[in-house]
Parts: sequence; structure tokens; C-alpha cells
Amino acid sequence: MKKEVRLLFAQECKFVAGAASLEQIPLLKLPEVAFAGRSNVGKSSLINAITGRRTLVKISSTPGRTQQLNFFNLADKLMLVDLPGYGYAKQSKVKVAAWNQLIRDYLRGRPNLRRVCLLIDSRHGIKPNDIEIMELLDDHAVPYQIVFTKMDKVKTPPEPILTKPHAAMMHERFWTSSDDKTGIEELQTELASMVNIK
Ligand code: GTP
Ligand code: MG
Repeated sequence: MKKEVRLLFAQECKFVAGAASLEQIPLLKLPEVAFAGRSNVGKSSLINAITGRRTLVKISSTPGRTQQLNFFNLADKLMLVDLPGYGYAKQSKVKVAAWNQLIRDYLRGRPNLRRVCLLIDSRHGIKPNDIEIMELLDDHAVPYQIVFTKMDKVKTPPEPILTKPHAAMMHERFWTSSDDKTGIEELQTELASMVNIK
């Protein structure tokens, strides 16, 4: 890994704000990269793995752990945004519906959102609610890339099966595991390319 990339991720990463509703989303200037995906796919774990901090973000085996948008400032250069999961969660229907609305409102209307990492569980592949989010991002021209998670759980790396072109999807894909750190350096390098790390 390049020294600049290592130095970027060795710097401080701090929780700056949480937002449970649209009005609470803070006005921030840094470029943002959001981590989106179904409940339990490993969004919060991946942020911990990327930042090399085990306890920055709380994780849980119960789907529905992250209940608000959480903003983490990396080195005053990049904001990492942990989103609640969409789809199934061990939470009330009302809560899940509210999160889904909040995620969609954020993803389609955030001026400084530069990139979305769309996490897909390597064991399960792309599901209909992932496609819905892809289409929302396509419609609003928000660049996104597919990041497979939990690679330590599968023998062969999955390929995304897509039935139609997606305008805002970036070509490069990532295959990661927060447990054994597969692909973490590659993802760090990609994210570092979004900021001026000099
Ligand atoms: P919500 O906030 O509920 O939407 O979940 P999330 O997407 O943030 O997932 P989280 O990081 O909380 O992880 C969910 C579960 O998956 C936890 O039990 C993690 O330990 C596990 N997990 C996350 N990443 C990996 C991985 O790379 N490999 C394995 N084996 N387990 C993982
Ligand atoms: Mg989470």
C-alpha cells in the first residue's frame, strides 16, 4: 500500500454527528462517502476495518443495529457515513419504514455526497431492494460501487449478476472481509483517491 494511503487512514477518525431525521443531518463541507446496504451486511464493521479501529462504530449480529446516519470525520479530509440498513431488521415496521425514507432522502439529495459504497453480502448476492437503491442512485447520478462483504464466508468470489445497465455504477468492484481484512487495502486506496492526500 502506498505510504500516503497508510498515513491517511492512520490519522484520527472521529464521530461528529448522528441524524435520525432529515432535519438533523448536519451541514458539512467535507466530501462524503456513504456505506449503504441491507441490514446486517457489515456496513459498520467495514468502517471499523477501513479506519483500523475496532470500536469506532457499534456492530451487532442483530439486524437493525445502526439506527441513524452516523458521520465520521477522517483526518478532516473525508466524511465516512454509516447508514442504517434497508430491508429486514429486527425492529418495528414503523422504524424500518422511517429509516428507509431517511436513507433515500439522504442518498438522493446530498450535495457533498461523492460516492456510495453499496455493500452486498457475498453469500447472498444482489437482492431486489439493492436494485431499488441502485436505481435511485442511477436516477440522481450518485456514483456508487459494489463492495462484497464477508468474503471469509465463501469459497469463490461472487460476481454481481445484473440484468440491465446502471448509469451511475462504477466499474471497479471490491471483495472484502472485515474479519480477515481481505480487500481492505484496495478499498482504502480507492477512498484515498477521492481526497487530496498530499
Ligand atoms: P445494521 O447496522 O444492522 O444495518 O448492520 P451492519 O450492516 O452495520 O452490520 P454490522 O457491521 O453490524 O455486522 C453485522 C454482523 O455481521 C455482525 O455479527 C458482524 O460481526 C458480522 N460481520 C460483519 N462483517 C463481517 C465479515 O467480514 N465477516 C464475517 N464473518 N462476519 C462479519
Ligand atoms: Mg450498522
